Amino acid sequence: MNRRIALIPAAGVGERFGAGKPKQYVEINGKTVLAHTLDIFLQHAQIDRVAVVLSPDDVFFQTACRIRHDRLTVLRCGGISRAESVRNGIDALLQQGLASGSDRILVHDAARCCLPPEALTRLIEAVGDDENGGILAIPVADTLKRADADKRTAETVSRERLWQAQTPQMFQTALLQRALSGGLDGITDEASAVERLGFKPRLVQGDVRNLKLTLPQDEHIVRLLLSDGPSR
Ligand code: C5P
Repeated sequence: MNRRIALIPAAGVGERFGAGKPKQYVEINGKTVLAHTLDIFLQHAQIDRVAVVLSPDDVFFQTACRIRHDRLTVLRCGGISRAESVRNGIDALLQQGLASGSDRILVHDAARCCLPPEALTRLIEAVGDDENGGILAIPVADTLKRADADKRTAETVSRERLWQAQTPQMFQTALLQRALSGGLDGITDEASAVERLGFKPRLVQGDVRNLKLTLPQDEHIVRLLLSDGPSR
């Protein structure tokens, strides 16, 4: 039986957030951002294993995430980019026999700690065994402007059929490994690597609450989301 494995890249430094430590280790409502994220997956009945990818010189995880769980694997093989951290994490899981090529891998940003469990279920059910895989995403709601060099509007871009990609992004492990073995320049998410091979990942309705903690002002919204909501 194919398993579903969540892979959480958490080896970034979070420069734009500027907290003096990586943003995944900021504490919100009594728990670090990373601990909130790991718990969403550890508590989901359709996830068989959760693997977190840390920087090799991470000094925060042990004290910041006091989680003991037989389904949690900690990998200290983060790379210089998100894509490299994901690629190294997949290679490590396969080498250690913790995943097989036919298992489904769900890659999720550590900094998206408000993912509603029902959105995760929606992705798993919509993608199923589709060989193209799929991602959570939301149709663009705002009018889009392209700027000129002086930050004035140069044109209005049609938002027709434009979606904003979120995570998790779900693929067969062997396919994602192959997709990420072909050079990582310009790869900002897993789907873009898989598209390069000619596959067409499915777009599954995401959730506005699944925001990525990026700028200092996001912390306020995340705090509200984590203290509210029927799903947690
Ligand atoms: O910086 P950004 O928000 O785009 O990072 C998205 C996710 O990728 C975060 O969870 C971050 O920790 C992770 N990442 C990583 N290795 C890097 C850079 C980012 O695992 N070298």
